[in-house]
Amino acid sequence: MSKEQATHWTQAHPELGTGPVRIDRAMSPEFFERERDRIFASCWLKVGRVEELPAFGDFIVKELPVCHTSVLMMRGRDGQVRAFHNMCSHRGNKLAWDRRGNCRRGVLTCKFHGWSYNCEGRLAGVPDELNFFNLDKEANGLTPVAADTWQGFIFINLDPQPHMTLKEYLGEIVEDLAGYPFSDIPFSFGYWEDLNCNWKIAVDAQNEAYHAVWLHRRTIGDIFASSDDPYSHALEVKLYGLHARMSLPGYDLWHTPVRDLANRVENKWVMRRESVFSDFTKMPKGLNPTRSQNWTFDIYMIFPNLWLGLFNGFYLIHEMWPVEVGKTRQETRMYQSAPRSASQLFTWEYQKSVNRDVWLEDFSTLEETWQVLRSGAKKHFNLQDNEVLVRNFYYQVERVVDGRRAG
Ligand code: FES
Ligand SMILES: [Fe+2]
Repeated sequence: MSKEQATHWTQAHPELGTGPVRIDRAMSPEFFERERDRIFASCWLKVGRVEELPAFGDFIVKELPVCHTSVLMMRGRDGQVRAFHNMCSHRGNKLAWDRRGNCRRGVLTCKFHGWSYNCEGRLAGVPDELNFFNLDKEANGLTPVAADTWQGFIFINLDPQPHMTLKEYLGEIVEDLAGYPFSDIPFSFGYWEDLNCNWKIAVDAQNEAYHAVWLHRRTIGDIFASSDDPYSHALEVKLYGLHARMSLPGYDLWHTPVRDLANRVENKWVMRRESVFSDFTKMPKGLNPTRSQNWTFDIYMIFPNLWLGLFNGFYLIHEMWPVEVGKTRQETRMYQSAPRSASQLFTWEYQKSVNRDVWLEDFSTLEETWQVLRSGAKKHFNLQDNEVLVRNFYYQVERVVDGRRAG
């Protein structure tokens, strides 16, 4: 993409328009109450990975303050992962208080009066049962939550009757990313932080590369720019309705002594250090969709709050979990293979420290933006063409909140 050329991603979707995007309504406390119901209590939400509960009796818990609940995922004797509201049927105490664990002998027991449940959610034991009045144990198991998996990611849906399956919800993403080796790439490290900002501000920060050469100028800004492409223009954009993809270029042009060493020990540019697909034509069709030799990674924004950064052999996740209108828990994880040599360890540790700094830069603007945005003095964003994912996100948020369901 020449620096003289304008891109035209937005104009390919006339429904989005090209004018300023109003944000004052979407940032209001009233709108947040509708988001709770229309978005977070109705859409499929990624809450874990199957590797986090590998064996019978393993469980993980996802706190969902935005929906005033906590969800418990348990692996049953049959190997299936099921999800439930993490709540006892006696007097409503939270059942599992730890983030993860294993039910002893396949039974989870409430701390309050000792009611116990098996990993399929059935009420298994009630102390002093004879003093209850015709207690129907069959009808008083844990309250189920719809759960399904895609590529090892566990999704739940708090709607008692989801209006579409997970596969229908993800649509063409399922086919576009078939063959990406998610299950072969282990969790490496992650961070979480509580931010004083609206969750959409945190999503916006990851949904474009326009900021890369400026906000990340001390860390990785150079990776995304060249003299021909000074502003990190997208190689390709695909809007899936609710979800979106942006394919991004990268260049190995800027050098520091430490980066050169990190590149040299593996004899590969660190951004390609774990190339699973040496032949770009053999990649999943949704990875590096243009088959560009200058490709670095693809952003997949899975509505409402899951961001995937997919590289050739490693990947990043951001999740932006609303707590209140001005409070968000940001969870960030990196998945990459364990280093297999001392030299790889050096390169991996270098990359880890770079990622830490990049994420600190990304998160540095969020609270300050929110602090002044909530004044209401500005009522819209002015978005350029390479911010089309931001534009699409606000369009989709409004559409879902206003009750126009995803197509
Ligand atoms: S609230 Fe759980 S046993 Fe009483
Ligand atoms: Fe960034």
